[in-house]
Amino acid sequence: MVYEVRLAVIDDIEAIAELGAITFAKAYGDIVLASDMQGYLAEFFDPERLKQEIGSKSASYFVAESQEGVVGYAKLAETDRPAQLADERVIELIRLYVRPGNYGMGIGGKLLQAVKQYARSCGYSGLWLRVWEENSGAIRMYERDGFRQLGSEPYYIGTTPNPVVLMVNKQR
Ligand SMILES: CC(C)(COP(=O)(O)OP(=O)(O)OC[C@H]1O[C@@H](n2cnc3c(N)ncnc32)[C@H](O)[C@@H]1OP(=O)(O)O)[C@@H](O)C(=O)NCCC(=O)NCCS
Repeated sequence: MVYEVRLAVIDDIEAIAELGAITFAKAYGDIVLASDMQGYLAEFFDPERLKQEIGSKSASYFVAESQEGVVGYAKLAETDRPAQLADERVIELIRLYVRPGNYGMGIGGKLLQAVKQYARSCGYSGLWLRVWEENSGAIRMYERDGFRQLGSEPYYIGTTPNPVVLMVNKQR
């Protein structure tokens, strides 16, 4: 599949909102109460919210786009860092999702490289992230890329606590 990875613009909002909700629900649908999931999707994949984030540059979204449309996306933003990283100039990779059906084709890896390059160009010394502790495929991908585990903590989706691993990748 031919695709390109680029920074998202306002015109990508509908596609990101749709893909974001589908992929998040697929990733966490089995472990989160349906009511919690509904509230989370409505809050975080609201096109108005995405428009505000992209317009104000409070978050940077990247899309992988093929002839079929957006097949993956990533989100990067300056957030409250975990205590272990308080003194580090690292930025959070908040989301990295590929459309189900397009896994294993290099799209996630290419998005990750684009995000790292962008973070470096903005003066950050690396990325940190949270990943569900049972998501062994993603953890494997991050470790292969140089991320290391810092510990774990609960991440709340509505009222549901989910055990997540904190990871960091500091670049030289
Ligand atoms: C994790 C994810 C972004 C990887 O993107 P991708 O385009 O499939 O990854 P690539 O083709 O660049 O690299 C393949 C690697 O991704 C990882 N991976 C994770 N889930 C995978 C899946 N279902 N199929 C294939 N690879 C997967 C593996 O490490 C794999 O390499 P390996 O099998 O040799 O160990 C993608 O599978 C995805 O969107 N998964 C669901 C959402 C998710 O877990 N996101 C990360 C949350 S922090």
